Amino acid sequence: MKHYCVIGFPVRHSLSPRLHNRAFRLLKIPAKYEAAEVKPRDLRSFMKKFRQNFDGANVTIPHKETIIPFLDKLSPEARRIGAVNIIVNKNGKLIGYNTDVFGALSALRDVKLRSKITVVLGAGGAARAIVHGLKKSGAKVAILNRTEKKAEKLAEEFKCEFGHPEDFSAMECDVLINATSVGMWKEKNKRAKFGGIEDSPLPDLHKILKTKSLKPVVMDIIYRPKLTRFLKDAKKAGCKIIPGEKMFFLQAAKSFELWTGKKFPAKVLSGQKCYSAAARNTLKAKKITS
Ligand code: ATR
Repeated sequence: MKHYCVIGFPVRHSLSPRLHNRAFRLLKIPAKYEAAEVKPRDLRSFMKKFRQNFDGANVTIPHKETIIPFLDKLSPEARRIGAVNIIVNKNGKLIGYNTDVFGALSALRDVKLRSKITVVLGAGGAARAIVHGLKKSGAKVAILNRTEKKAEKLAEEFKCEFGHPEDFSAMECDVLINATSVGMWKEKNKRAKFGGIEDSPLPDLHKILKTKSLKPVVMDIIYRPKLTRFLKDAKKAGCKIIPGEKMFFLQAAKSFELWTGKKFPAKVLSGQKCYSAAARNTLKAKKITS
């Protein structure tokens, strides 16, 4: 029996266990997948146990960067990005990959990126992958983050502009992406600490967008709730929106392939109320193997 998990904190909102367990069942792969809630201070001890007990993992907030010292090898892309969202345990050697880039660029495949001004909110592991993907696609990128120092560091690495989210009101952009965790669903008892679904990384987004002649395409990486406050505000202001579940399902499918060598079954989403029709179409339409 193979054993997989998603490593994060908080992590109970994650749909990954449900998604991958269903895929294993459908393909009759003897494997199970669980959520591993690991506080930052416990990551070292967890990774010792991981090597012995798990065959692979997804990595999510806030560990995508800090997990790297516990791995033996990185794919060239994960090394360039400086963040990992997938681990494969190959005969006791832990190899880190990044499938967020694939997920983000596939979700944006109908949007012209070359020479376009794109604004990324956030400067964590997810933002790193997205900035890398946008630069690879020829976009002009500005990174806005609550902790401006982190935005500055990332901007230096990837040759971008940087600033604080408050700067957004004075900017024109073609594409706006939330790569922070603000607005994500969390368990009720953790809400006070981590914020809730009523929060937005740009609380005045609707007001700001209404004044702009150029309406950006707006994407969120958060997939729970399906429509975040950030996306609702953008939609109300007349923007085209790309919900986070597109990127989530595409990166998940790619991860599944890395672990099992098998194509992720799009059928996994059939009859599941928690997934939208758009998500099912995304998986059916997209040839996952790149
Ligand atoms: P991940 O690896 O998934 O990107 P992360 O590295 O913890 O997770 O990054 C989370 C991002 O969300 C960071 O950019 C963080 O901003 P800081 O660098 O200032 O911490 C951003 N973020 C998290 N909570 C936030 C909040 N309440 N307001 C604004 N930004 C927030």
